Order: sequence, then C-alpha cells, then structure tokens
Amino acid sequence: MTASTLITHIGSLVTNDPSLPDADPASGPLGVLRDAAVAIEGDRIAWVGPSSRAPATDNAVDADGRALLPGFVDSHSHLVFAGDRTAEFAARMSGRPYTAGGIRTTVAATRAASDAELSGAVGRYVAEALRQGTTTLETKSGYGLTVQDEARSLRIARAHTEETTYLGAHIVAPEFADDPAGYVALVTGEMLDACAPHARWVDVFCERGAFDGDQARAVLEAGRSRGLTPRVHANQLGHGPGVQLAVELGAASADHCTHLDDADVDALAGSGGATVATLLPGAEFSTRARYPDARRLLDAGVTVALSTDCNPGSSFTSSMPFCVAVAVRDMGMTPDEAVHAATYGGARALRRDDVGRVTPGARADLLLLDAPSHVHLAYRPGVPLTSAVWRRGKAAY
Ligand code: NIG
Ligand code: FE
Repeated sequence: MTASTLITHIGSLVTNDPSLPDADPASGPLGVLRDAAVAIEGDRIAWVGPSSRAPATDNAVDADGRALLPGFVDSHSHLVFAGDRTAEFAARMSGRPYTAGGIRTTVAATRAASDAELSGAVGRYVAEALRQGTTTLETKSGYGLTVQDEARSLRIARAHTEETTYLGAHIVAPEFADDPAGYVALVTGEMLDACAPHARWVDVFCERGAFDGDQARAVLEAGRSRGLTPRVHANQLGHGPGVQLAVELGAASADHCTHLDDADVDALAGSGGATVATLLPGAEFSTRARYPDARRLLDAGVTVALSTDCNPGSSFTSSMPFCVAVAVRDMGMTPDEAVHAATYGGARALRRDDVGRVTPGARADLLLLDAPSHVHLAYRPGVPLTSAVWRRGKAAY
C-alpha cells in the first residue's frame, strides 16, 4: 500500500477505537496509540498503527511527538443569524438574568439580512470553528420563524454542512404572540413542507416561555413523519418534559440537560445510547448559570456529547477546546471523558459512524495539536493549540 498522506511520529494518538490491536488498554474508550502513524488514502483513513510499521509514502508529515485526535464533532450550533447581542451580554454580566427573550432581537436582524450576508457569516463561523479543530458541525434554523426565512436559513446552512436541523419551533414567532396554536400549526404544516427538503433533523425548544410538552411532541412527530429525526432543546432553564419526550420519541439527542431529576437520568441511561445527552457548557458560562452535572450522567451510563451551542444569545463561542476545558474544570469530567465526548460523543449524537474516530475506513478528519497530549486541551485553557487540521483527507488548516 502507498498512502497519499502519512502522518508519522504521533506522540499520542486518540482513536476512539479501543479494538485496534495496538491501542493501550489502559486508555479505555479513547483507544490511545503511542509513537503512532496514520495513513490517509483519498478522503479516508487507510491504516493506523505504530510508526515503525508505517507504509511507504511520497508525502509524509512528521508529527514530531505531537498529539493527534479525531476532528471535533460539534453536534449543536445556531449559525444562521445576523447581528450580535453584545449589549444583552454586558447587561447580563452586570446582573440581569437570561430569558431567551433576546431571540426576538436576532430574529429581526436575521429577517432583514440578505442571503449573501447570512451565508458569508455562516462561512466565517465554520472557518473559525475549523481553525479550532472542528471538522463536523451541525447547525440549525430558528432565527427566521417565517416559512420563507426558515427555508432560506436551511438552504444557506446546507451549503456549509450536511448536518442541518429545522428549528422553526425555537420560539413562537412575534406575529403569532396571541396565537401560539396557530404558530405550531404553521411549523407542523406549511413551514415543515418548505424546510424538510433541506434538513436532516427536527428540533424544538421545549421550555417554559417557548413550547410545552404537547406542542413539542406535535412538532417532533410532524418532523418525523417527513423523515426528519428528532433532537430536543431540553431542560435548559428549568425542569420540564423535554428529556422524557426526547427518549420516548427516539430522539438522537437531548440537548442542554441542565435541570434533571433521577427519572430523566434513568430515561437517558435506559435508552442505551440511542438518545445522547448533549451538554453545552458555553451556554452556562455565558449566562452565568449552573453547569449540567456530567459526572452524574456518566456514572449512570449515559452517552454524553459536548458541543458549543454557538449562537449570539446564550453561547457565542465556536470553540470546542473551550467547552472541553470548562467541562473538565466545572462539570466533573476527566480530560479523557471530555475529549471523547467532544469527538465520539458528538458523532453518536449525529448517528454517524464515519466521523469521531481514527480507524481504517473512517473519514480522514484529524486534528494535530501543538502539544504532546490531548489532556493539554483542558490543561492549557485558552491557548490556541491547533497545529494542523485535515478534513476529508485534505489539509484544511
Ligand atoms: O440553545 N435555547 C434556545 N436557543 C439557544 C439560545 C438562543 C438565543 O438566545 O439566541 C440555546 O441556548
Ligand atoms: Fe441551542
């Protein structure tokens, strides 16, 4: 075999595939190999093993002892929006609570923006995320809230990622303030018709002040009947029915999971990994709220993902390394667990087998760190550690 690219002398390689013959059993689910090499053929990983047994190549990259891991899988973001909410953030940091009411400000700005402005902004955020190691990224509509604006949000998102989510049910559109049932009828009818062709997933903000359990169920079931798989904004600001609904409807993930009771944790664990708990520490950081208890979920056997929730209101970060660092510092995760959740966990939340692992046949989406170990992502918070990124086998940074 001759590899099209060979990365050699990787000090520490996180594969997330403990079944690889050279993986260190002590590294558990991370499947770490030392002094390793990775061969890329086209857009796929062709071979993984010790540097000493690497295949021949014309194009070798010497990692010189640095760490390599799967590119991050950010399974939750809201990138199709215009403007920002700097003043709202500053007010919050001087004591105002986060209410999600600010979503209306972004809806107005997004509706007023041109397609080119919105698409340019999404491209910039995707590039910003890539520079920090994100190679797969989900993103949502939800700042249009009309048939046309939701459909164009998803069309624009689709040009940047195949992981698009219809979130017409983000909040009740301002025009329907006195007729929430009318808005749910729109979201499950004409708006869904216009959006379903551009989306893979359907999402709903199930929360007091947004959509209650019955409304959320109607939205998710309608989406499902059009071939979209549910995911749910659940239990973010307070306790509610979102997590239970997510598990009952076979959602791929319940996102936020900040306010959980024992029955919620049991339900997630009982799903056997089918419904991933996606934790979004950027939101608690930027709203000064209490963090979700990752330790409790992991100890119960729940599959956990970490994602950015990048949006202009509650979490304006595209940085997966930042989320990893916070999850380790404040959510009870070990560095190994946080890196696993930010790669393999995100892939599970998107029901993808081809990303989030460095193993033969997987997509060659890789992050080379300017550090000897993935632990440095938490150990050196705020430090840009990206040395190189490959996406689908091509050098992307
Ligand atoms: O995931 N929770 C609902 N949606 C976003 C916040 C949106 C906004 O404030 O603009 C979130 O945190
Ligand atoms: Fe969100």
